[in-house]
Amino acid sequence: MNLKRTNTCGELSKKDVKKYAVLCGWVASSRDHGGIIFIDLRDRYGLTQIIFDPKHDKKNHKEAEQLRREDVIAVKGKVRARGKGLENPKLKTGEIEVLVDELEVLNKAETPPLEIEDRIEANEDMRLKYRYLDLRRPKMQKNLLMRHNAAMAAREYLNKNSFLEIETPILVRATPEGARDYVVPSRVNPGKFYALPQSPQLYKQILMVSGCDRYYQFARCLRDEDLRQDRQPEHTQIDVEMSFVNADDVMEMVEGLYKHMMKRVLGINIKEKFPKISHKEAMDKYGCDKPDLRFGLELADVTDAVKGCDFNVFNKSEKVKCINPEDKFSRNEIDSLIDFAISIGSKGMAWMRVTEKGLESNIVKFFSKDAQKKLIEKTKAKKGSILFFIADKEKVVNEILSKLRVELGKRLKLIDGKDFKFCWVVDFPMFERDEDENVWKPSHHIFTAPKKDYLQFLDKDPSKVYADLYDLCLNGVELGSGSIRETDAKIQEKLMKVIGLDHEQAQKKFGFLMDAFKYGTPPHGGMGLGFDRIVALMCGYNDIREVIAFPKNKDAECPMDGSPSDVEEKQLKELNIKLDLVKKG
Ligand code: AMO
Ligand code: AMP
Repeated sequence: MNLKRTNTCGELSKKDVKKYAVLCGWVASSRDHGGIIFIDLRDRYGLTQIIFDPKHDKKNHKEAEQLRREDVIAVKGKVRARGKGLENPKLKTGEIEVLVDELEVLNKAETPPLEIEDRIEANEDMRLKYRYLDLRRPKMQKNLLMRHNAAMAAREYLNKNSFLEIETPILVRATPEGARDYVVPSRVNPGKFYALPQSPQLYKQILMVSGCDRYYQFARCLRDEDLRQDRQPEHTQIDVEMSFVNADDVMEMVEGLYKHMMKRVLGINIKEKFPKISHKEAMDKYGCDKPDLRFGLELADVTDAVKGCDFNVFNKSEKVKCINPEDKFSRNEIDSLIDFAISIGSKGMAWMRVTEKGLESNIVKFFSKDAQKKLIEKTKAKKGSILFFIADKEKVVNEILSKLRVELGKRLKLIDGKDFKFCWVVDFPMFERDEDENVWKPSHHIFTAPKKDYLQFLDKDPSKVYADLYDLCLNGVELGSGSIRETDAKIQEKLMKVIGLDHEQAQKKFGFLMDAFKYGTPPHGGMGLGFDRIVALMCGYNDIREVIAFPKNKDAECPMDGSPSDVEEKQLKELNIKLDLVKKG
C-alpha cells in the first residue's frame, strides 16, 4: 500500500475544502452520471462521496469504471464543496466530495452474497454465515461501538470505586448455575473432564476469602441451555463481588453503575432511585418476576370475587386473574386476543364488557349480582372497558397474563421505545418447587444466604424461606441477579439438605469453596449482570445476537466457522476417547 490514510470516511466537512486527503475503504456504491463516476466510499466511521472525472484524470477514471461493490481502495484527492442542491444533509460528510487524483486498488471483492445496507436484512443463517459482511453494515458497526462504549463506561465506574479486574479460569470444575455444562476432555488426565464456567461464581467468592475486597470481570459464561432471543450458549456478564456488605450496599453500587452507563453511552440522566418491588408484588401485579414498568395494566386477583359462581371453568381453577386494558375492543379484536392467549398456551380466555347496565357477555349469567359487583370493584373497571380473565393453576395464569399484558401494551401503543424503566425485584423465596422432579431447587443458586428471620423454616417448610437475593430488571428483561452469600457452614449444610445434597455430594461438587471458607471468610455478596442484554436494550433490540459479533444460531451452531464440528480420529485417540454415538430415539 503506497497511499497513507490521512482521514476517515466519516470525517471531512466544509472546513476541509481545498485540503488534500487520503481515504481508504470499501466501495459502497458506484454511479455513472454523464461520464463522471460517483462512488460512496465506506469505512466504519461513515461514507464519503469520491469523484472520478475523465476531464480531470482519464487514467483513474478508466480504472474506476472497473470498480465493483466492496472492492477495497485508497484514494488521494482534493476536498471540494458539493454543488448547490447536491448536498446530503443525512450524511456527516454530505456537504463535500473528494475529486480523485490518485487511486490504489488494494483488494478486489467478489459479488457479496448479501447487501451491505441497513435497510436490507438477509435471513438469519445468511447473516451468520457471512457475518463479516453483515458486520460491515453501519447499523451493526454502531452496535459494536455501543457495546465498546458500554464496557468502557462500566470499567470506568468500577475502577473508580476500587474494584479490581481479575480473570478467573475457563477450564474449571463445574459451577452450578442450573444449566448443563460444556465439558472439555483432559489429554493429560485420561477420562477426566474440565467444565467451562457457567459463571465465575465459586472463584469470585474465593477471591473474597483471598482479601480482594472488590472484584469485577467481563466474564464469558458458558451454558448448554435451550436458546432463545435473549439466551446464547456463551454470554458475557459484568461479574461483581464485594466484601463486608449487605444487599442494599450491592444494589446501591450496581444502581450507580447503570446510571453511569446510561449517562455515558446514551446521554440519559436517570435521577430517581430504581424502585424496589417484592417478588410477591411483581407476581401479583405483573404475573412475572421481571416486570415491564413502562406501562400500567396491572393484573387483579379475582379468585375470591368469583368463588361459588356457577361458571365451572372458574370454579374448578386454583386461580382466576383478570386484566383490564381500559379500552374498547371490537368483537374481532376480542377474538384475536383470545387466539393470542390460546397460542401462548391458555385453554381459553373469558371476557366481560362493562356497560351502563353492568357486566355483559355470554358468561355473565353464571355470576350473581354480588359477584359482579365485587368484580367491578376489584378491577376498578370503568364503563366501556373489557375485562379479560384467565383461570388455571396460579403459575399458568401468571405466565399467560404476563404475556397478554405485554401484548396489550404493544397493541394499545402504551410502550415508549425510548423509555428506560429499571427496577429491583427483591424478597425472593429461597427455593422453588420442581413439580416434574418433585424436588426443591434454589431460586438463584445454593450459595445464596437465606434471610435470618426465616431460618426456623429451613427444616420444616422450605417454601417459607426467603433469601437475601435481588434481581435487576429493565423494561421487562432480567438484567442481572445477585445475592448475599451464605458463609456459615452449618446453615450451608442445611440448604444442601433441602435440595437433596448430602455432605459427601456437596463436598465432591464444591468442597473446595467450603474448604476455603474455613480460613477466615468475610461476609460478601455480588451480582452477575448480563452485558449482552443491557447493550441490546441500549441499541433498541430484544435479540442479543444483534450486539454479539459472532453469535450462535438457534441450534447452537456457528454457520460461519461450522462449529460444532467433527474432530479427527487422531485427536480422539490423544484424548483417550472413543465415540459411540447413541441415536436419539
Ligand atoms: P444468573 O445465572 O442469574 O446469575 O445470570 C446473571 C445474568 O446473566 C444473564 N444471562 C444470560 N445472558 C445471555 N444468555 C444467557 N444464556 C444468559 N444466562 C444468564 C442474565 C442474568 O440475569 N453467578 C450468578 C450471579 C451472582 O450470583 O453473582 C449468575 O450467573 O442477564
Ligand atoms: P368452554 O368450556 O371451553 O366452552 O369455555 C367456556 C368459556 O370459558 C369460553 O369463553 C372460553 O374462552 C372460556 N375459558 C375456557 N378456558 C378458560 C380458562 N382457562 N381461563 C379463562 N377462560 C376460559
